[in-house]
Amino acid sequence: MDWGMQNRMAQLIQPDGRCLFLPVDHGYFQGPTRRLEQPRKTLEPLLPYADAVFITRGVLRSSVDPGRAKPIILRVSGGTSMVGKDLANEGITTSIEEVIRLNATAMGISIFVGTDYEHESLLNLAKLVDEGERYGIPVMAVTAVGKELGKRDARYLALCCRIAAELGARVVKTYWCEEGFEKVVEGCPVPIVMAGGPQTDTELEVFEFVYDGIQKGAIGVNLGRNIWQNDHPVAMIQAIRAIVHQNATPKEAHELFEGLKSKAA
Ligand code: 5RP
Repeated sequence: MDWGMQNRMAQLIQPDGRCLFLPVDHGYFQGPTRRLEQPRKTLEPLLPYADAVFITRGVLRSSVDPGRAKPIILRVSGGTSMVGKDLANEGITTSIEEVIRLNATAMGISIFVGTDYEHESLLNLAKLVDEGERYGIPVMAVTAVGKELGKRDARYLALCCRIAAELGARVVKTYWCEEGFEKVVEGCPVPIVMAGGPQTDTELEVFEFVYDGIQKGAIGVNLGRNIWQNDHPVAMIQAIRAIVHQNATPKEAHELFEGLKSKAA
């Protein structure tokens, strides 16, 4: 691996081999998502606890101070919306020159395995990997499931993750699943991070799945709504950080969350 690629990977994955990525890219197809209406306001208190931020160029330029930024994973796929015909019909939205100009540490792109746009999205990933490798910029593939969260079973996720790795992604973001998540990790030769999905009913549910996923081999999270849609986002990110970087159990993370919450009140 070339020095530049190694250096960028080291900015993303911390010396303990783990990472906490904070995604705030949701607006690229969801518009002003709840509690991300003003990205700067959402992001600023959370930045100190994130290892990297997953974000589009528009929100990066408008809402992140370049003097105080964390490593950036630039969301470079899109072109669809919640109200359009098909969320899977994404293209590459950002040139490699723009990625370099913005000094991004990595690029992120969604793939839509099993949809009408599987072929296009996989070729988009391959093309992006070619461009990224030319300049030493890693690609994180996002195994998107669109509106069909029911598809989150181990067989499907393992298929998506393996394909993403085979096409050259350096990191793969996928969903945790209750049964067989270890098989998803085992079948993927590059590191896996877990997304959170829509907000869960309780904080403990998040702590439990993050802990379980890490035990089963994920290196961390790329977890958004369950942090910034929570009533106590700063306590939430610190509790998740404790699981990722300090091996806190779900119970310990919950105690930390409750403690930080009452301290802030
Ligand atoms: C949105 C994404 C998000 O980065 C990913 O889904 C993680 O966010 P959340 O934890 O809110 O699901 O790719 O397109």
